[in-house]
Amino acid sequence: MTDLTKLVSQMTLEEKAALCTGAGPWVTTAVERLGIPQMVVTDGPHGVRRTEDLDVIAAKSKPATCFPTASCLSASWDVELIAEMGEALAEECIALGVDVVLGPSNNMKRTPLCGRNFEYFSEDPYLSGELAAAYIQAVQGKGVGTSLKHFAVNNQEYQRFSIDSVLDERSLHEIYLPAFETAVKRAKPWTVMCAYNKVNGDYCSEHHELLSDILKNDWGFEGLVVSDWGAVHDRVTGLKAGLDLEMPGPKPRRVQAVIEAVEAGDLDEAVLDEAVRRVLSIVFKAQETPKGQSEFDRAAHHALTRKVASEGMVLLKNEGILPLQNPASIAVIGRSAKHPHYQGGGSSHINPTQVDSPFDELKKLAPSASFSYAEGYGEGLEHNLDLITEAVAEAQAAEVALIFVALPVVIESEGYDRKALDLTEQQVNLIKSVSAVQSNTVVILNNGSAVAMSEWLDGVPAVLESWMMGQAGGGAIADILFGRVNPSGKLAETFPKALQDTPAYLNYPGENGQVHYGEGLFIGYRYYDAKQLEVEFAFGHGLSYTEFEYSNLKLASKSIKDSDGLELSVDITNVGDVAGKETVQLYIHDQESKLVRPYKELKGFAKVSLEPGETKTVRFKLNFRSFAYYHPVHKRWVTEDGDFDILIGASATDIRLKDTVTLSSTLELPSILNKESTVKEWLEDKKGKEVFEPMFKEITASFTSAMGADTASEADIGMDMTGFLMDLPLMSLLDFQDASLAEAPETIVQGLLAKVRS
Ligand code: BGC
Repeated sequence: MTDLTKLVSQMTLEEKAALCTGAGPWVTTAVERLGIPQMVVTDGPHGVRRTEDLDVIAAKSKPATCFPTASCLSASWDVELIAEMGEALAEECIALGVDVVLGPSNNMKRTPLCGRNFEYFSEDPYLSGELAAAYIQAVQGKGVGTSLKHFAVNNQEYQRFSIDSVLDERSLHEIYLPAFETAVKRAKPWTVMCAYNKVNGDYCSEHHELLSDILKNDWGFEGLVVSDWGAVHDRVTGLKAGLDLEMPGPKPRRVQAVIEAVEAGDLDEAVLDEAVRRVLSIVFKAQETPKGQSEFDRAAHHALTRKVASEGMVLLKNEGILPLQNPASIAVIGRSAKHPHYQGGGSSHINPTQVDSPFDELKKLAPSASFSYAEGYGEGLEHNLDLITEAVAEAQAAEVALIFVALPVVIESEGYDRKALDLTEQQVNLIKSVSAVQSNTVVILNNGSAVAMSEWLDGVPAVLESWMMGQAGGGAIADILFGRVNPSGKLAETFPKALQDTPAYLNYPGENGQVHYGEGLFIGYRYYDAKQLEVEFAFGHGLSYTEFEYSNLKLASKSIKDSDGLELSVDITNVGDVAGKETVQLYIHDQESKLVRPYKELKGFAKVSLEPGETKTVRFKLNFRSFAYYHPVHKRWVTEDGDFDILIGASATDIRLKDTVTLSSTLELPSILNKESTVKEWLEDKKGKEVFEPMFKEITASFTSAMGADTASEADIGMDMTGFLMDLPLMSLLDFQDASLAEAPETIVQGLLAKVRS
């Protein structure tokens, strides 16, 4: 093993500064004199985009398997499947000479409009964290590094290089950080990529709190922090904040700035040394697995892609029409049936080894049926009545119409956000016109994030969300439509009825360079729960060709300490006629808490495979964090005594079983009472109550009389005095009686505070 401390000490200032900036778009800087090799990094995340020419940022890339994008992966809710894909991805990295793959992308889906949602897992931090950890562990288990990105609060493409995401501390810690935290703590990614945007005023690339205090110190991240491509503004400030590696390079002026800062005493050389040590540790770790000397199994990976895609596709609606029952004639409608939309635009764009079109794959699985085809819509946004007329004629002449609808790339891609949730006007008209003449119509959607459907959904008996489904997605669609695979995907994001319903609607996309996260903790289903808004398809929703029954919810204990956690189990039975898979979801509901909490929060999930009639017991283990929330004044996760409902559901709106556990908190939290604390807060605080209660009655009585009444209820100003004084700061309450007090209000309150803190 290389002695890194020694190596760092042998490097010149120039070499060290150079090592912290890339030598090219995709390679780190080598130092031949000391045997320090270069390291190759490449996008990610759902395939390997290894450019043929490593010197060109957007060069043609070598053929690699294009797996389904994260929206599809996450809808599988299957950590083992994601691990299988991660291993295949690592094999391709090894074959293609890649040391670190730039993924997974782990940002939260704050608004369905975000153009890059296809690359992100979910609106739920728990689910995202679990899936990202599984991906990282699998890739790195094979000796290839990952880059967990984009850290942090990068939830829109609009002005992504500069926007300032302004949010409160609780939302940061409870919604936008946990998915990173889980992945970092559990899976130890080799690298973490900082985001382009600012968070509360500072660029992520210069964010000391995010990069050093939280990521490196609190979470114990040992790897290197790399910038997103072009995210660096001030290299020296970045280094001080904890940004170890700038990409892409070369950037001689930046290297020079670092050298000069050290020479001028503006940058402590120890800070640079630490960044260098981190970069070297990953560069040498990468060396342990030789690259570029093997081939990967294209056919096997293509087959895996088909499997992954079929597990992630979500059957949103089915009024008995699917699976197809050997129709003699099928009208296949929609351009994407022949030109599949299987991946998103931008940095993740893969040069696939092969692509299966839905049209060809459908024909293979139904050799005796007759197929017709109508394009239905063009590549862009143009309206063309002839295409609709032709499609309607084909649909009328067949027993079944399958409409393939893909959002055009001009609408959805990395680099820009969508303006609306709707399909194009032409596509909506196509669906309405075809379903008006053909009652057996199935809509198959290709998109990266929620779309609105209320304009046409009622007229269509079945809808399959097939996402950006990867290069073998065409086959996966055929498998599901013909029942060779029983669909088991469930939404990892809510499909709202309308854009106006969405959590960030009033705050997105921001103005004057800032976007305010005004909805706070309430993103995704947390918002729809709180507003009691009906959605089109709920988080966690997804149909199967069979039915599942939930029974026998058993809590190991009805009363627990937070430190012990809780074990519980539930039985799931396949009560239908075909084998299938069900994703069981566990949410908790805190019945009462001092600070506001979402109605429910996902804290566990499990995907089980069941033969007809089979029952399996699914077990969960909840821990301290499952019950805790982040307290911005205590600056830590806290639990409170109280009752929590354990909700077991098939989706966020389909809760099948419920029980309650009583939790006692083992935390001894310091009092957070201060000069401004209200009477109620004093009475709710354990120590505060002890010291304040003895004088409470007397003070209340003298306050009431100062207000001109004998009892609180007699005060003649049309209000309940008790309610009024509860929300009064103790100091103000005392102020009203200043003249009659032996000591000044300030002295009394300070005296009480001293007792509370002693
Ligand atoms: C993207 C990153 C990507 C990088 C390199 C950036 O624009 O945000 O996700 O890894 O480019 O292509």
